[in-house]
Amino acid sequence: MPLSSRHLLGLHGVPKEDIQLILDTATTFREVLDRPIKKVPTLQGKTIVNLFFESSTRTRISFELAQKRLSADTINFAKSGSSTGKGETFKDTVKNIEAMKVDMIVVRHESAGVPQFLTRISDANIINAGDGRHEHPTQALLDLYSIREKLKKIDGLKVCIVGDIGHSRVALSNIYGLLTMGAKVSVCGPPTMIPRSIESLGVEVHHDIDRAIRENDVLNVLRIQLEREAGSSIPTLREYHKYFGITRERLQQNEDILILHPGPINRGVELSSEVADGPFQIILNQVTNGVAVRMAVLYLLGTL
Ligand code: CP
Repeated sequence: MPLSSRHLLGLHGVPKEDIQLILDTATTFREVLDRPIKKVPTLQGKTIVNLFFESSTRTRISFELAQKRLSADTINFAKSGSSTGKGETFKDTVKNIEAMKVDMIVVRHESAGVPQFLTRISDANIINAGDGRHEHPTQALLDLYSIREKLKKIDGLKVCIVGDIGHSRVALSNIYGLLTMGAKVSVCGPPTMIPRSIESLGVEVHHDIDRAIRENDVLNVLRIQLEREAGSSIPTLREYHKYFGITRERLQQNEDILILHPGPINRGVELSSEVADGPFQIILNQVTNGVAVRMAVLYLLGTL
């Protein structure tokens, strides 16, 4: 059964069957990553460009590795050093890259809606690797995969997304994906970091981190996005840590909790270092699983 769309622009409106198919396919590819030879010929002959207009460590490397593991030809575009600095428009840049015959485009951009725009000017399959504050679908898929791997289910779990919800594309994609897969979702953070209308998505809102720890199976703890002016939503980072930071002491309230973080971490702000490196978190498992999940997305879209 193929996916219902030839692009992955976000998880809004993506059917449960599609998410299930991606997660199940990722399970097959996750096994490939543990083999001595971590490569399959699945996308041999396909050409994929990674179009990154905004900085990234995990997502860019993870997509590139996923493409190489599937034997695709990959090209990396970074804004710095490109002809955009000479005044070339975004549309002209994309049209010129596409003229070199690429099959798929993975795009990260600071502006929401850029992946959607690409579907109108390009014939390639488009994958959103993070657009502004909008969506980051492969991050949410790898979060779902990592939760399912650890807790053996998603349906019925209580998941709280903690912190800088308003600036976060990870939050929105997680909310859509988790609700579709049957989880009960809440958000917790300072009122200044939570969009007013977020309840309309079907999530509960509160501002008590100790309650979030006590009442949930999973906390997905978000980074304070200082590059998106999150600093103006809180008095100081020290105060944020005091009221919302996850510490070992706080976790004594629920020794079964599972902690996720999409990275990069602000140590001592969202998480104490003891928690970031401790037994409750699966942060580096998320990163490993991300390669398998991106292999699944590339495979399913590339063979539609
Ligand atoms: N989680 C995530 O998107 O990290 P990068 O910004 O390093 O890609």
